[in-house]
Amino acid sequence: MSRVVVVGSGIAGLTAALRISTFAEVTLLTKGALQESNTLYAQGGIAAALFDDDSVELHARDTLLAGAGLGNEDAVRILCSEGPALVRELVRFGVPFDRSGGELARGLEAAHSRSRVLHAGGDATGRGIEVTLAARVRASGIRILENTMLTDLVLRSGRTVGVRTLEADGTVCVLGAEAVVLATGGAGRLYSHTTNPRGATGDGIAAAWRAGAELADLEFYQFHPTALTAPGGTLVSEAVRGEGAVLLDASGSRFMQLVHPDAELAPRDVVARAIARQMAAQSGAPVLLDATALGRRFLTRRFPTIQAACEAAGLDWAVDPIPVTPAAHYWMGGVKTDAWARTSIPGLFAIGEAACTGAQGANRLASNSLLEGLVFAARAADALSATELPTSPVEDSVLSGSADRAAGEAVPVRTVDDLRDVMWRYAGVERNADGLSEALRLIDELQSADSVSSIAAQEELNLLTLGDLVVRAALAREESRGAHYRSDFPTTASEAVHSRVVLLGDDLHIDTFTEAREGMEREVVGAC
Ligand code: FAD
Ligand code: SIN
Repeated sequence: MSRVVVVGSGIAGLTAALRISTFAEVTLLTKGALQESNTLYAQGGIAAALFDDDSVELHARDTLLAGAGLGNEDAVRILCSEGPALVRELVRFGVPFDRSGGELARGLEAAHSRSRVLHAGGDATGRGIEVTLAARVRASGIRILENTMLTDLVLRSGRTVGVRTLEADGTVCVLGAEAVVLATGGAGRLYSHTTNPRGATGDGIAAAWRAGAELADLEFYQFHPTALTAPGGTLVSEAVRGEGAVLLDASGSRFMQLVHPDAELAPRDVVARAIARQMAAQSGAPVLLDATALGRRFLTRRFPTIQAACEAAGLDWAVDPIPVTPAAHYWMGGVKTDAWARTSIPGLFAIGEAACTGAQGANRLASNSLLEGLVFAARAADALSATELPTSPVEDSVLSGSADRAAGEAVPVRTVDDLRDVMWRYAGVERNADGLSEALRLIDELQSADSVSSIAAQEELNLLTLGDLVVRAALAREESRGAHYRSDFPTTASEAVHSRVVLLGDDLHIDTFTEAREGMEREVVGAC
């Protein structure tokens, strides 16, 4: 039986592990406790064309429109057409989706032409999904290694043959595998304002980069328009605006109607930029989200997570508008994959937020990320089951024990904080050549440990690597499109091209490609 290592236990990793375990020996390794992931904190819900007034075509059209011309049409079609059956499977697994009159309840979010977003526990959709899938994984007998970090991929003759891991006590191990599936999520921690939890440091993408994998569309980081400005930066779901909440400037006037015909429900990048500009115009003061018209009873029932965050911050959003700011939320870029989650390195797959299938284009449509995690995890499993994998020459081994841990290695918090400030200031909602060049210079000055023996130091190294790559990709794209807005190149180019970075020897190589050149195959073909 083939050995497959799945790295990460959000919706993508858990789904892949469950499916692959039906035909291969799976080890699921994850950096924290099993449930810790961005998935756990997802609020608004999961989008799928499940209702009579909706269709795959409409969902695909909305996804492509939000993607600002960069969405890969094949990947979008796969996402929207294969998603509904997998969401129905979640319902059968027992995810406690909310109901109304016995039917599945559904919400509306920005840039969706239909109400098609299923939610659970009001605004605790991610928890409903994560808890249900994690329980199934535990019950399945899959080997689970918690509190174990992937540091690097192990390659032989250009093929992935295993992973190198680090535990909290400093133990370093190698696990052999015939295939590795990266489901390690995004890197919101690159930015000083983010909705992402602590662990979102892009480790899988950084490891794939060091191994020589192609990465794509790194300049496209999505900023969610509304995070509470209170400590913790809790997300205030787009579904709140979908239910009718409006944005106000410091003087209490609405401003989004002047910016876009869909006002508060314009695509996410448009709303985030408008808020950032409004904040700049009012000397950095946050804008206000006014949900008071929705009433206390509705807010408490529909949005209990946000209600609790407001209470913790001493805010009563049933009575007063609450202060909000844009925050880094989701990475459209990642490890470049084809339609079967295969990367440019044989034996290496990437799924979920760590991957770039092109489905999310230059700007993800709300509630399409959980769906992408499901759909492409299932596809990775299908690709693996259809292929005979060469046996890995690597056996599991312990390279160094906890006693070998470098004594007294400092956790360089300052470097990470500095990096996050630089990224927010120069590679955030709006960028330009001068700022991005300054960011490159400052990132270069930030020192990182050469050899790492703690999880925090490895995360820092990964963030520095990825910050540098985001800035280089943002400098190279001399246009504005979706989430990438260049104040010195404010227009959108006539042709939409993806960007790709890869290490050739020791040199970074950056170029562009179009879907026409690199279309996604619809059948599982070729080797994995
Ligand atoms: P994650 O869920 O992030 O899981 C990554 C996993 O990899 C984690 O278990 C992590 O511990 C592990 N990991 C990371 N690095 C390593 C390593 N080096 N070694 C081992 N393990 C590692 N999307 C929607 O579609 N709908 C929503 O309503 C929605 N709301 C959101 C709300 C918030 C607050 C946030 C932050 C995001 C939201 N998103 C939403 C986005 C969505 O949650 C994520 O994009 C999605 O959950 C990513 O799933 P994933 O499985 O790819 O990664
Ligand atoms: C939200 O609830 O606004 C987040 C939804 C998403 O990121 O898709």
